[in-house]
Amino acid sequence: MRPVPYLGHGVGLRRPHWEALFATPQRVDFVELLVDNALGRGGRTRGVVERARDTWPTVLHGVALSIGGPDPLDLDYLDRVAELAHAAGARWYTDHLCWSSGFGVEYHDLIPLPATREAVERVVERVRTVQARLHLPFGLENPSVYVRYADDELSEAEFLRAVLEGADCGLLLDVNNVYVNSLNHGGDPREVIAALPLDRVMQIHLAGHERVGDVVIDTHGAPMVDPVLDLYAYTLARTGPVSTLIEWDNDLPPAEVLLAESDRARAVAAAVLGERPVPCPA
Ligand SMILES: [Fe+2]
Repeated sequence: MRPVPYLGHGVGLRRPHWEALFATPQRVDFVELLVDNALGRGGRTRGVVERARDTWPTVLHGVALSIGGPDPLDLDYLDRVAELAHAAGARWYTDHLCWSSGFGVEYHDLIPLPATREAVERVVERVRTVQARLHLPFGLENPSVYVRYADDELSEAEFLRAVLEGADCGLLLDVNNVYVNSLNHGGDPREVIAALPLDRVMQIHLAGHERVGDVVIDTHGAPMVDPVLDLYAYTLARTGPVSTLIEWDNDLPPAEVLLAESDRARAVAAAVLGERPVPCPA
């Protein structure tokens, strides 16, 4: 696994927040750019990517890699990600342990993979291809899943560990997703985190979720709940400092609300880690 620097506390750079964040750049330590919103775009979007690069450390996060999908890996997509990473000065690139396209169709959704040894083998091979093609640290995010398969052979943590260790890649640990999965499927989220290869955590995601009927949905459209921050503290106590990002993608609040969420995470990290670790410079 390629080492990554500690970047501090960041937020996703979303269009309605561009102005406010560029006006107060010191409020965040780094930003995450959504690959699939910026790929192949020129004009104002490319201008913002370059301005972000000149303002903060940046990282790339995507949803369309479909690392476990049935179609061959899209090497042209990877080359365009590499070009974007270069333009953005990105420190690393992440996507999800799932599939999101197949049989030539983009589903615009993160579909869970069966937690089987066969799936591990397939994903490991494909992650190795991604890493060789991109020459950039690469990580997979643990997704929130709303179905589990009768064919599953491995637990959530066992499946993640087998892929990450087999491919020798990083983990983007979404603490909210672990919590949401525990609400929907049972189990102790602390046990899941404790069973993960925590030396591979390259970044943490925090976000809000909402209950819709019997299901808890990872909406990225609400403030974080305290149990997620407690789980974040539990995680940091085991990992040490990890670059932490607030995701808010739906019902976007004013930038001030997003920044206050980042400050909540910063306060938890300071309480767990003692003196605030100094992030690396832009
Ligand atoms: Fe996430």
